[in-house]
Amino acid sequence: MTPLKVLAPIKVKYAEKVMFTKKVLFVSSEVFPLIKTGGLADVSGSLPSALQNLGVDIRILIPGYPTVLNQLSDLQSIGMLNNLPVIEHAELMLGTIKDTQVKVMAIKSASLYERDGGPYSDVHGEEWPDNALRFGVLSKVAAILSGAQTPLQDWQPDIVHCNDWQTGLTPAYMKLQENTEAKAIISLHNMAFQGCFPSEWVATLGLPASSFIMEGFEYHGQLSFLKAGIYYADAISTVSPSYAKEIQTAEFGFGLEGLLKTRGSEIKGILNGIETDEWNPEIDTHLIKTFSASKIAGKKQVKSALQKKLGLNNDANAPLLGVVSRLTHQKGLDLLLPNMQYLLDAGCQLALLGSGENVLESAFLTIADQNPGRVSVTIGYNEPLSHQVMAGCDMFIMPSRFEPCGLNQLYGLAYGTPPIVNATGGLADSVIDTNRITIKDKTANGFVMAEVSAEALLACILRALEVFNDETKIWRQIQKNGMSQNLSWDKSALEYLALYQSLS
Ligand code: ADP
Ligand code: GLC
Repeated sequence: MTPLKVLAPIKVKYAEKVMFTKKVLFVSSEVFPLIKTGGLADVSGSLPSALQNLGVDIRILIPGYPTVLNQLSDLQSIGMLNNLPVIEHAELMLGTIKDTQVKVMAIKSASLYERDGGPYSDVHGEEWPDNALRFGVLSKVAAILSGAQTPLQDWQPDIVHCNDWQTGLTPAYMKLQENTEAKAIISLHNMAFQGCFPSEWVATLGLPASSFIMEGFEYHGQLSFLKAGIYYADAISTVSPSYAKEIQTAEFGFGLEGLLKTRGSEIKGILNGIETDEWNPEIDTHLIKTFSASKIAGKKQVKSALQKKLGLNNDANAPLLGVVSRLTHQKGLDLLLPNMQYLLDAGCQLALLGSGENVLESAFLTIADQNPGRVSVTIGYNEPLSHQVMAGCDMFIMPSRFEPCGLNQLYGLAYGTPPIVNATGGLADSVIDTNRITIKDKTANGFVMAEVSAEALLACILRALEVFNDETKIWRQIQKNGMSQNLSWDKSALEYLALYQSLS
């Protein structure tokens, strides 16, 4: 008898294709790599691609910002959109994201979207005064594409998947105006941003005045995009199971907890995955050296290169703390300030990349001025540097007051940079504190604060430093535990699919 050949396991990127014949329109105001200000873009770039790999017929809809139109391949005009508020007409373009083959439809309107600056604000950081119109039109177009007025004969969605307030009016337009059989889902990525605008916008956006009531899209006398989404959507999801519960409380619901509670049992919490082609230390092209859980030596070289690049003392033993973040109250980085000097005097270094509130930016810049060679603060947005900080640092600091999911702690896990976090939202769902039990059962992958305070953050960092400095083997194990987790979309994309199926 011929002996059976032992074959190397075949790496299957995603589960096998499933039978799902419905079409899905995924609507988002930012999509990586086309345009990004935060985690919403990461999710909007990677989740549709994971669903497409499962066999779902999915297209993204996004405003046609110049950078979007410039980056899409095979861009072509596929129809005119009529009856839009204020601008009347816009052109619908279709292209693909390079390498993924994910199809993207972009709304081309020079007056609304073709400007210098970001998706929400101008080059000076001032919000665009016509954001209600810019995202009202995005919402309206998504609804049109699902209904009888669509200019597309060959592709009509059965499910419209909305994301955050910028797309919140879509379910309202679908239910109140477009004659559509399609179902609407809204995914809540952050309740802190709700898109509330003066009541005059109700008429300007062509919404029925009769629905400007509490059982509709009125919120304290204003038009609320996010409330509209929550009120009219057929299904609601959030980006982690813990956040799904938290937003039903006054502390995290930002005023919409009452409405969310009425739909409480329907709110599905699905933890974000990460794009493993993009965030993977084994193939990351932003690093001078790649590394993995079993060959971690390369991480030392990345740390040394990062120290050199940022003007930090080239000291392999100095624990290097990393931060990549929006500098806002949400992210809790103010809690690091009172004890930063103490940590530096104890031998730590800090590499911070971020931008946001002036007070925070200047507080960290002052610490950097006072501690040359030990602190580097880069104000701004820098994609390659974000990978290098994530990979080169020893631990990642993320003491968020609330965190719907958080992607950076997941990147920290993947890069052997154990995250130090507060137990909230997606941080609570993904970071397992290091203690005797979790060391023993090999689940420890980071350090979790006991409460939200500067003292608790310091205590948590000191606990991490103790392991880092003394217990090399345990530290390696913690790194390995995180690095060997499956953080991809494999599981979560299937959960979204199940949610789509439940609506059919
Ligand atoms: P949020 O979306 O609330 O800001 P997440 O952790 O979900 O938080 O996602 C943040 C994303 O934005 C990550 O991909 C992170 O690397 C990126 N990011 C944040 N600030 C910067 C920055 N200054 N430069 C480059 N990337 C950044
Ligand atoms: C929001 C949240 C963040 C989440 C991201 C993507 O920006 O603040 O926690 O990871 O959306 O879902």
